[in-house]
Amino acid sequence: MEFDEVVKKRYSVRKYDPRPVEDWKIERILEAGRLAPTGKNSQCQRVYVLRSPEALDKIRANCSMTFDAPLVLLVFAKKDEAWVSRFTSRNIAETDTSIVTDHMMLAAVNLGLGTCWVGYFDPVPICDSLGIPNGLTLMHVLPVGYPAEDSEPYPMHFERKDLSETVTFL
Ligand SMILES: Cc1cc2nc3c(=O)[nH]c(=O)nc-3n(C[C@H](O)[C@H](O)[C@H](O)COP(=O)(O)O)c2cc1C
Repeated sequence: MEFDEVVKKRYSVRKYDPRPVEDWKIERILEAGRLAPTGKNSQCQRVYVLRSPEALDKIRANCSMTFDAPLVLLVFAKKDEAWVSRFTSRNIAETDTSIVTDHMMLAAVNLGLGTCWVGYFDPVPICDSLGIPNGLTLMHVLPVGYPAEDSEPYPMHFERKDLSETVTFL
């Protein structure tokens, strides 16, 4: 797919077909995340791939917004590895992991899959149930799968501000 087509085709998929995502597609998605830029090349992201029935049961029980997707990627930050701005003291882990997640999201769309970026979750029960090691902060949840036949974008998908409201040329 052309890049513009990928960007235009993407929408938040909230209804999935149960068929599993092929391993080679999972690898391509993970590779897109691996190649994402990160502050000072820290690569502070850690990605957990949930695809076993046991892992999927746990995430579904502890996160109401995985929409029964057959694959869920959890993107964590190892914050102590992330670059910290000397000017603002800001730890850049959230930015790094967002770029990684967006790369994976667009790679999935390019492979004919759907995704939905999920920020609505309580990390504690998710991490406890999956035995996530200390030192990792759950930043983003990304359900992935083939959109259900009757999946459609929510109305919000079509609501975008005009460029004149968000862009300033000087
Ligand atoms: C940081 C972030 C967090 C989000 N969290 C959720 C979420 O918890 N649940 C959900 O259904 N959608 C979530 N979304 C999806 C947005 O609601 C969606 O991207 C927006 O409404 C535009 O619709 P579209 O993605 O279909 O174009 C999130 C998106 C982003 C970027």
